[in-house]
Amino acid sequence: MEKMLIHGRKPLQGTVKISGSKNSSLPILAATLLTRGMCTIHRVPDLSDIHYMLTILSTLGCEVERASGTVRIRAENIRSETPYDIVRKMRASVCILGPLLGRQGEATVSLPGGCVIGDRPIDLHLRGFEALGATIRVQEGNIKALAPHLKGSTICLRGKQGTTVLGTDNIMMAAVLADGITVIDGAAEEPEVLDLANFLIKMGARIEGAGTARIVIEGVKELQGAEHEVIPDRIEAGTFLVAAAIFGQGITIRQTLPEHLQSVTAALKEAGFRIDITADAITVNNNGRRRPIMIHTQPHPGFPTDMQAQMCALLSTTEGLSKITDNIFPQRFMHLAELKRMGADIELEGATASIRGVSSLGAAPVMASDLRASAALVLAGLQADGITEINRVYHIDRGYESIDEKLNSLGAHIERIKSSSAKNRLGS
Ligand code: EPU
Repeated sequence: MEKMLIHGRKPLQGTVKISGSKNSSLPILAATLLTRGMCTIHRVPDLSDIHYMLTILSTLGCEVERASGTVRIRAENIRSETPYDIVRKMRASVCILGPLLGRQGEATVSLPGGCVIGDRPIDLHLRGFEALGATIRVQEGNIKALAPHLKGSTICLRGKQGTTVLGTDNIMMAAVLADGITVIDGAAEEPEVLDLANFLIKMGARIEGAGTARIVIEGVKELQGAEHEVIPDRIEAGTFLVAAAIFGQGITIRQTLPEHLQSVTAALKEAGFRIDITADAITVNNNGRRRPIMIHTQPHPGFPTDMQAQMCALLSTTEGLSKITDNIFPQRFMHLAELKRMGADIELEGATASIRGVSSLGAAPVMASDLRASAALVLAGLQADGITEINRVYHIDRGYESIDEKLNSLGAHIERIKSSSAKNRLGS
């Protein structure tokens, strides 16, 4: 197992290029199951979650080739069942259900288990499949969905916690090959949903309204292979914006889409940072006048839950009282205990973290618990006095392509080492 050692308080400066989006790539790769034709997807990031998805596709019978950021997939003859062992490693594997059901008329996928960021049911996905005419059974930990003929229908996908991103993706992927017209009300408006719809449209699907709360899909008989470039990862970009804000002396984030990051740049401006935006780049300057802020996470275009942990790291050293409420995943606060070990002053009540800014954080050995929590610990380590040791860094490799190399190119000093040598190093 690997650890990261972050030598804190190195000023950061320069330019960083953003990778393709993980959360776009995953459903887009799953969507290749909908056709026998060759699909070519560019700008697919090199991440362990992507590796899991490609393994699932290979197990289903797809021919998969990967060369740097380009993935070629041909799903000529496929099975409809995936083994638990692979699926359990990644919750997002649930998004193969929609395309399998659409193409094969049946699908068996393991029911996702517990998740460290909170209870993550898939009731809305299943309700959507049922509305399209599928019969769903949960048997021996598997979801078995059966629908020899999917039929278009009007479906509301809004649940207690709001919209569902992968739920919208799943129903859209099932509906593109259904008979007739499907209307999804209460659809997720995230840019990743629009990116998936754009790929499906290139494959021959008829979809209108993706990126809004109402998506209309007219089913077609079959889809063809297509070529697509994935959008930039807005959460990776947001994480680098926070890094820039924390300790930057002028950092520019390139190859990003600033319109996807408006809620994050607005929060940073409110927190006192200077933000300059061009068509595909954002520059953040720490002008020395940081202010506390209040944030509520919301579905897009609101402030993303996937940026909540990183903002906690920034606000930990922002003088005054800040508050962050996570309305989407109210239990997604595992990083707080670790930030407190580094000297942060944070109280959690319900889904609201009250953060009283301290003048500085101190290095400590800390444990990454999930992807965005790990990013928050890296951001805390960048500003801490001393060497922060982050354990279980495999969490960060699920969603950030070479984060240590990218930060080092900006002036950070981050080492990635095997656990045993980390012990020697810290002991010396
Ligand atoms: N929900 C339900 N029932 C459902 C589905 C969702 O109650 O059937 C609830 C969830 O429990 C949650 C809320 O609805 O409270 C939103 O969940 P959503 O379904 O939108 O989450 P997701 O689609 O499973 C994606 C991202 C997450 C991101 C969320 C919210 C991917 C692969 N994952 O998950 O990304 O946090 O949307 O924006 O796209 C991450 O990248 O670190 C990550 C966790």
